Amino acid sequence: MNIKQIHHICCIGAGYVGGPTMSVIADRCPDIEVTVVDINKDRIDAWNDSDLTKLPIYEPGLEEIIARTRNRNLFFSTAISDSIAKADMVFISVNTPIKSKGYGAGEASDIRWVEASARQVVEHSQGHTIVVEKSTLPVRTAAAIKSILESPQKDSFGKQITSTFSVLSNPEFLSEGTAINDLEKPDRVLIGGEDPSSIEALVNVYSQWVPNEQILCTNLWSSELSKLIANAFLAQRISSINAVSALCEVTGADVREVARAIGADHRIGKKFLEAGPGFGGSCFKKDILNLVYLCRHFGLPEVASYWEQVIDLNRWQQERIYRCILHKLFGTVNGKRLAIFGFAFKADTNDTRDSPAIQIASDLLEEGALISIHDPKVTKEKIFEELIKYSSQVEGQLSIVKNVKEAVLNADAVLILTDWKEYSQIDWTQLADLMRSPAWVFDTRSIVDPLKVKSAGLNFWRVGDGVN
Ligand code: NAD
Ligand code: UGA
Repeated sequence: MNIKQIHHICCIGAGYVGGPTMSVIADRCPDIEVTVVDINKDRIDAWNDSDLTKLPIYEPGLEEIIARTRNRNLFFSTAISDSIAKADMVFISVNTPIKSKGYGAGEASDIRWVEASARQVVEHSQGHTIVVEKSTLPVRTAAAIKSILESPQKDSFGKQITSTFSVLSNPEFLSEGTAINDLEKPDRVLIGGEDPSSIEALVNVYSQWVPNEQILCTNLWSSELSKLIANAFLAQRISSINAVSALCEVTGADVREVARAIGADHRIGKKFLEAGPGFGGSCFKKDILNLVYLCRHFGLPEVASYWEQVIDLNRWQQERIYRCILHKLFGTVNGKRLAIFGFAFKADTNDTRDSPAIQIASDLLEEGALISIHDPKVTKEKIFEELIKYSSQVEGQLSIVKNVKEAVLNADAVLILTDWKEYSQIDWTQLADLMRSPAWVFDTRSIVDPLKVKSAGLNFWRVGDGVN
């Protein structure tokens, strides 16, 4: 089937990827009508809220794009079947978490939402439809999708459905917090597929703003696998530098200086060398677990163990930071007030999925600490929801506050866990007066000036600093 020009796009899944990605496509391709659909009505209502500060996700630059595209050629809807029927291209951008139960639990990807989406497509599509995998998927998922799409189907009147399909893989590489910039100026767009005219149709969409030499076309399996490998390589760099941070602390070296020294070698490069409390976010851990599972499945246990270490080291980094806090506070935090600055997994997002703050805060709650958390974008409800999963000590020990001064009242320590810019501008002299002495600042993100903290009379620890 020869469709080279796309007129109607439907995206199944209005989440952190579907929402921003489709907003940018609608913005850059005014001739294409884009509808983002979801089974979650509250989420769709939030995307349609006239108050743009109430969009379901916070992403710099997103509000402006929504303001100029929404109800022009960008629509958010729960009418999934109508939108699929109208579309000549359907993106599947649904969640693909790790299975929590059954065979492969804790490692294998749970692709039930992807399968459900493929079944919705087969049921409602008309004519020829290009189905695009946008979700991150185990390599060879396209074979399963094709098999669902190509199996003989009957409509509700028992009549044979004659729609036809082709499947493309088009993984997303955006990072939260910089999603709009990443989508507008991607390092590359990756398209995997078999049918040249379908590939061309998707190339035509992206080429409206992405230079052709940055649109890479591969076979389906290379495309699916490249997404998992890109995340594994990025996470591996973070675990490597975090391992080095521990070595710096016992040898008198400084991880920031080591990172600068090695990053100056252009073969290594300077990005993703920031030591911290371990990587968080919804994807690195799940995608590596999935990679580990696939390696074992394909009979490569040594390769599986190699990648598994990246996750083990990440967990260890969080544990050792928690142990270090405990140690510096004389071995006990029971009944002590601790202020946590930042709960999102990184700055410029309200996303808390797998945030290092969850593990560190719940370990400290279990030790009996009284914790006050400040985060500029994460809601009180979200913080409680995350911590209740891991700690039985939330009620009475946890408070969520609106400003940092409130958080540090009578506190023995401040723990900086997210790299929000506002924390780098704190006046420590003002805060020191409100804290109980001797008080500590633990900077896991290297964002405050050590001299300013120390000259305010506070003790100071930061990750990977050998003079700690
Ligand atoms: P998300 O949980 O924010 O959004 C997924 C949405 O899909 C949810 O709103 C859910 O209700 C909806 N959904 C699930 N099944 C559906 C169905 N059958 N019909 C309609 N809607 C359905 O997830 P996300 O963060 O946007 O991630 C989506 C995919 O993109 C994942 O595979 C993830 O690994 C990948 N990815 C995420 C990021 C990121 O930064 N979050 C970046 C790159 C890739
Ligand atoms: C990551 C990848 O960067 C994206 O390319 C990918 O599309 C996405 O995962 C995905 O598949 O979901 P994201 O998780 O949004 O994006 O954010 P990152 O900037 O990669 O940060 C991930 C975690 O690593 C954060 O907790 C961050 O604080 C931490 N990090 C990052 C470090 O500790 N050190 C660094 O040098 C960089």
